[in-house]
Amino acid sequence: MHNPYLPYPVRIDKVVVETEDRQLRSYWFEFVHEEHAQAFRHFPGQFAELSIAGYGEIPIGIASSPTEGNKLLFTVNRAGKVTTRLHNMGEGEIMGIRGPLGNSYPLEENRGKNIVIVAGGFAVTTLRATMHWLLHPDNRKDYGTIDFIYGARTPGMLLYRDELKQWQERDDVRCHITIDREAEGWDGLVGFVPTIAEQAEPRPDNAIALICGPPIMIKFTQPVFDKMGWNGDQIFMSLENRMKCGIGICGRCNVGPYYVCKDGPVFSKTQLDGLPQDY
Ligand SMILES: Cc1cc2nc3c(=O)[nH]c(=O)nc-3n(C[C@H](O)[C@H](O)[C@H](O)COP(=O)(O)OP(=O)(O)OC[C@H]3O[C@@H](n4cnc5c(N)ncnc54)[C@H](O)[C@@H]3O)c2cc1C
Ligand code: FES
Repeated sequence: MHNPYLPYPVRIDKVVVETEDRQLRSYWFEFVHEEHAQAFRHFPGQFAELSIAGYGEIPIGIASSPTEGNKLLFTVNRAGKVTTRLHNMGEGEIMGIRGPLGNSYPLEENRGKNIVIVAGGFAVTTLRATMHWLLHPDNRKDYGTIDFIYGARTPGMLLYRDELKQWQERDDVRCHITIDREAEGWDGLVGFVPTIAEQAEPRPDNAIALICGPPIMIKFTQPVFDKMGWNGDQIFMSLENRMKCGIGICGRCNVGPYYVCKDGPVFSKTQLDGLPQDY
């Protein structure tokens, strides 16, 4: 049996600087050993623990979809010790990965439904994986309308800009890409994500919404969905608690009766309603 604490070695295949402030970088990893690539079977919404010897281990959402092959994408904000070290690493360097960890977005069990995706800031990562999965020809036909609502502070802080452009050009996706304030050269939507969600007015009939973003965005988005008649079983949110083991053993990440690492990170709004506000 594979020891769940033992990371698989991965090689950095490609690094992309995503944002104008250079604080967010995307890393494509390839597994050093093919059998590890085969063992690592993930689904959109899951995360992994990335480790760098001598620095530590951090949970990061998996930004690539399994429909994209065996390479894995992670987009990392430079926040502290481990993420700064990662930002200083380049193509060809080896590090570790443990996972896939946690649950995933409920896409399989909601085939046949309309999907609304709401993302704020760099929390869009696992929703990128979701978009790739939904738009794959094997899956797209099984879902109704797709609304993709995504906001960043400025145009230069939007992630995956080439892909956003491709999604905007498709006639089977309603893209609502917004920035906080008017900016030179920007002719798209302007306004905070909750306001744009209100304007897009996605209907709750036969639909689910997947929401991921900073707590302030979630706080103001929830009442918008309530007002439009969505119920708590149709809304799924991904949490980002502090973690250590990532597998439900250390007790570092709990919220009420849940371990975010194992029971989440994706929870329905119904599950979260009534829990202590420590997430
Ligand atoms: C399920 C999950 C998915 C995540 N996905 C991503 C992702 O896709 N991209 C990404 O850039 N980050 C993501 N994070 C956050 C990421 O794990 C932290 O930013 C990282 O652990 C910081 O490590 P560090 O050693 O560089 O920073 P540290 O030196 O440990 O801390 C630096 C700063 O970051 C804060 N911080 C540390 N851990 C967290 C955390 N878990 N959540 C919020 N703030 C934290 C600290 O309070 C401190 O202010 C995710 C976290 C979780 C739990
Ligand atoms: S991180 Fe250890 S129990 Fe969740």
